[in-house]
Amino acid sequence: MSTVTAATRDRAEGVRTTGGSGLARIPGQEGWPIVGNTLAVLADPRAFAERMVRRYGPVYRNRVFGEVSVSMVGPEANELVLFDAEKNFSSARGWGAILDRLFPRGLMLLDFDEHRLHRRALSVAFKAGPMKSYLGQLNAGIAAGIAQWPRGREMPFYPAVKQLTLDLAATSFLGAEFGPDMEAIKRAFMDMLAASIAVVRKPLPGTKMGRGVKGRALVVDYFSRQIRQRRDGTGEDLFSQLCRATWEDGSLLSPQDVVDHMSFLMLAAHDTLTSSLTSLTYRLAAHPEWQTKLRGELHGLGLNTGEPLPFDKLDDLPLTEMAFKEAMRMAPPVPSIPRRAVRDFEFRGFHIPGGTGVEVNPLYTHHMPNLWPEPDRYDPLRFTDEASRGRHKFAYVPFGGGAHMCLGLHFAYMQAKCFAWHFLDNVRVGIAPGYAPEWRMWPIPFPRDGLKVILTPIR
Ligand code: HEM
Repeated sequence: MSTVTAATRDRAEGVRTTGGSGLARIPGQEGWPIVGNTLAVLADPRAFAERMVRRYGPVYRNRVFGEVSVSMVGPEANELVLFDAEKNFSSARGWGAILDRLFPRGLMLLDFDEHRLHRRALSVAFKAGPMKSYLGQLNAGIAAGIAQWPRGREMPFYPAVKQLTLDLAATSFLGAEFGPDMEAIKRAFMDMLAASIAVVRKPLPGTKMGRGVKGRALVVDYFSRQIRQRRDGTGEDLFSQLCRATWEDGSLLSPQDVVDHMSFLMLAAHDTLTSSLTSLTYRLAAHPEWQTKLRGELHGLGLNTGEPLPFDKLDDLPLTEMAFKEAMRMAPPVPSIPRRAVRDFEFRGFHIPGGTGVEVNPLYTHHMPNLWPEPDRYDPLRFTDEASRGRHKFAYVPFGGGAHMCLGLHFAYMQAKCFAWHFLDNVRVGIAPGYAPEWRMWPIPFPRDGLKVILTPIR
């Protein structure tokens, strides 16, 4: 398997990046010189998209981060681009600019046949056996983490759950026996995460990117040194599973592949879970009637306080699942999904040349009033079988769709349900009357003030 990154491949193959001229017939606006519309998108990506659609329609030309691209909104656009029946859209060349330096060769940075082979090799780590073992770690870690959160006084929820998610990744992804180096690995990983969305993209000393590149060197070195030992061992954590994963011919993944996939999996899981658990908690705090409903459902499982949530009960929590889904409808952890067209294509009567950067927009789609009446109202019952009947399959895309659909989707639901069980069984979560935190929705939704909640013990 080669170790070529998307950017190197683009250069080698002379892939065009379409400038404004090839797109002149697409309605839209490119904004200010140099910055384009970047600031407006950063400030409020949903309001920006709604403004553009009102003015120009559901296919519009835009300029963010120095490149002219085409945004296509709505379920049909999601289906065209994400399902990608004709293999017109490269994920590697969409995400490459953001992720290539720190998380090269992760699944989202691979395309088509090569991607399929890697995805198949990795899928062994998400089968029922390993998932059960991860749930064991999640149960222990979540119960211990929540026990430490303060009761009866205001606490910022977002940083607390971010730390918890990182600690959980350490045990379920890397194995509890990882030892004293774990703190250094966690710090390095956080530096890589911060760098992946940093504005300054050069690894200059003192910048986020500089720290991120250093962090990657440490993580790569540490993972590489562990691989032989993990291959010979019987560890059930995700890293050990990848170390023993094989290609179709039975040969093992190369150490570089294991390191690249492992780093990427940690990236893919961390901020998305942090964001979605924060959204869920906020909605439950703002809608105590839903806390009561979920608590009733969870207690219906007949477990004692502190007992682990069993793997075979995960499907018995439909209300909890719908509450989580609705939180992600309102704040999809990946609000915008980039691709690059590898050849010319047509959509809604527009001809769009190969090489164009293309964006689809879960955040916009999840608030389209014709699909989601009163889109700003929290209503998990939108996801009952009856209410979902007839809704476009690509109207709800928090996990994407098609070949690159989230590989950790079941892991995410499992962690959310495990969290809901230990959290709601122990505390009531509240917010001050009238409190409505401001959310920054891009690149990953989070409450600007950290989300101030008060936890009250149940018993
Ligand atoms: C609520 C939590 C999560 C959300 C909302 C989420 C969302 C997404 C989305 C939208 C994509 C597709 C991006 C694209 O098409 O360009 C994706 C891909 C991916 N996710 Fe997740 N994710 C979550 C949690 C996780 C977790 C926990 C893991 C791992 C344990 C994970 C692993 C991956 C991987 C490996 C991919 C790439 C799949 C591929 O390219 O074939 N995700 N995720």
